[in-house]
Amino acid sequence: MERTFAILKPDAVERNFSGKILERIESQGFKIVAMKRTLLSKAQAEGFYDVHKERPFFPSMTSTMSSGPVVLLVLEKENAIADWRKLMGATNPADAEAGTIRKDFAENIERNSVHGSDATETAAFEMSYFFSQTEIH
Ligand code: CMP
Repeated sequence: MERTFAILKPDAVERNFSGKILERIESQGFKIVAMKRTLLSKAQAEGFYDVHKERPFFPSMTSTMSSGPVVLLVLEKENAIADWRKLMGATNPADAEAGTIRKDFAENIERNSVHGSDATETAAFEMSYFFSQTEIH
């Protein structure tokens, strides 16, 4: 079993797509082992996306991530990291395959509805950034 970290981003929550996206997650065999609906501060978003701090889109992207409530998740499944990335689709919804969450829900590369960890180390960092061990069951 593997765990990954996911976010339902402000654009998805704001448009009432939380339920539809959670339904896809569960129907694809992921167990939701932690879940929290919250509003990120700009500083929290900046700390979370620290690896991107030199990118030109960093100020705008972290403002967007702190513009409204998000749903933070830890997902568990065999191959959870790769399988969640597959279910999300490409970062830019214009490049996302049919049937993926970003193809069906995302508005653009910044308002792209969902986030997922890209590797084992990032998943560990991202889960621990928002959840303590006692919140994951
Ligand atoms: P995410 O998977 O959360 O990881 C970093 C985020 O930065 C990414 O999704 C996008 O929402 C955002 N991002 C990546 N590239 C760009 C870009 N060129 N312009 C705006 N936002 C971007």
